[in-house]
Amino acid sequence: MSEALDYLLKTRREAMTSYFDFIKQSGKHLDPKTRALISVITKVDKLTEKGFRQYLSRALQAGASPDEVLDALLTAFPTLGLSKIIWAIDLILAMDIPEFYPENLGRQPSWHELAPVEEIRGEVSFMQVDDKEVFVYRDGDNIRVYDSLCPHQQTHIPEQCLDGCLLTCPRHQWKFDLRTGECIEEGNRPLKQLPGKIERKTLLAEW
Ligand code: FES
Repeated sequence: MSEALDYLLKTRREAMTSYFDFIKQSGKHLDPKTRALISVITKVDKLTEKGFRQYLSRALQAGASPDEVLDALLTAFPTLGLSKIIWAIDLILAMDIPEFYPENLGRQPSWHELAPVEEIRGEVSFMQVDDKEVFVYRDGDNIRVYDSLCPHQQTHIPEQCLDGCLLTCPRHQWKFDLRTGECIEEGNRPLKQLPGKIERKTLLAEW
């Protein structure tokens, strides 16, 4: 929340609570993905970078594909116009999200080999396979694979931000516990966990 909203919430709690209730109620028949996509469009219309990054992240987490994000932007052309759509695409390119690479659009999720299980030592490992970076947590047979993109605004979280099982995003310092993937400080959304499996003693993940 912005400092200004925080201030109003403290000084005009009743009015602001009604406002937030209105926002919540007004979209209650929409599924989370549709709600997030509409919010993406409103952030583009207002040209608010922070809001755009945040709601793009929410839309992707809610299951929107990059193609659906692009379609939502183009469908809103009559109100956004080309220059605002270009502004949004420039931001998406700057965010460097592999799923938006032209060669990845429309691609169905597939399994990727990460490493032989016996080579995954230590509690947490950082791995890069093709254009994807992941953190792997291992406690015996309990293995979890997390996307390295921050769920707040899709920032790439590098290996250097790892301290034991604690991962801190360099952008706004959300902290994640890799034993669970939960955000334990500053933020409120978990890391994206990727489906994983072991085949022929090798760890695979799906994206
Ligand atoms: S992008 Fe904001 S904490 Fe990661």
